Amino acid sequence: MSAGEPSQGVAAGEGEALSEDVLLERALSGSIPVHVGIVMDGNGRWALSRGKKRYEGHRAGVESIKRCLPALIRLGVKFCTFYVFSTENWKRPKQEVQFLMNLVVEYAKEDRSDFIKKGIRVTPVGRWRDLPRQVVQALERLVADTARGDKLSVLLAVNYGGRQEMVDAAKRLAASYKDREKELATVDEEDFRRFLYEPSAPDVDLVIRTSGEMRLSNFLLWEAAYAELVFTDVLWPDFGPRDLYKAIIEYQGRHRRFGDVRRE
Ligand code: IPE
Ligand code: IPE
Ligand code: MG
Repeated sequence: MSAGEPSQGVAAGEGEALSEDVLLERALSGSIPVHVGIVMDGNGRWALSRGKKRYEGHRAGVESIKRCLPALIRLGVKFCTFYVFSTENWKRPKQEVQFLMNLVVEYAKEDRSDFIKKGIRVTPVGRWRDLPRQVVQALERLVADTARGDKLSVLLAVNYGGRQEMVDAAKRLAASYKDREKELATVDEEDFRRFLYEPSAPDVDLVIRTSGEMRLSNFLLWEAAYAELVFTDVLWPDFGPRDLYKAIIEYQGRHRRFGDVRRE
């Protein structure tokens, strides 16, 4: 199966010459992924290459998220998971971790009304309830206040790890079969899926990773089992709607077969 009707594509180098509107129009002429996952990488390198401190890169990274939200809505993407903080990011210097936590709180508070205005529903995924109290409270308030958003679901992966998600799902599944262990033999993928952090979100169609790194780093391991992967050298703070549209166009050029033979 192809990603859908392929759009007209963008020839190498041509993307730079095309305006944002033309790229959007091309992207809209092909099939749009329902769920996009973004590994927002390269904040530190972006800052250091400008003689700035790493944290300034993280601050600039928040602006990139803000730029991408209206673009995702224009495209008609229904779910977008942003990788904000991984379970492995605790290895970073304490001050950087602290800064990132504060940034989450700040973003959750400052952009609350903007999310509501845009019709965006925000759902944190990960072991976010284990985070410091003010982070949990800010996220809980954001969830409650944006619950009615129906244009786009934004999943914020905070203290998230794909392996941990599966361990947590397995534990909750086992607990729910406590008095009917025999039935465990009938558990299938769909039963397991229901215990993931956000079962209402469908599988991920497209994972975008910035900054030239080509790995998943424990992101959405279950959900992205059959995702198309698009890697770009652009550093996350430089990423904007044009880059998003180009990634969608690249996705549309892929042939998704899901194990089947190519049929056309
Ligand atoms: C991504 O940027 C942000 C987080 C992981 C929180 P990095 O901080 O990983 O930036 P680089 O990879 O060091 O450039
Ligand atoms: C992945 O980026 C995590 C987030 C973007 C939040 P990292 O920069 O932490 O990943 P590695 O360490 O390069 O794999
Ligand atoms: Mg990185």
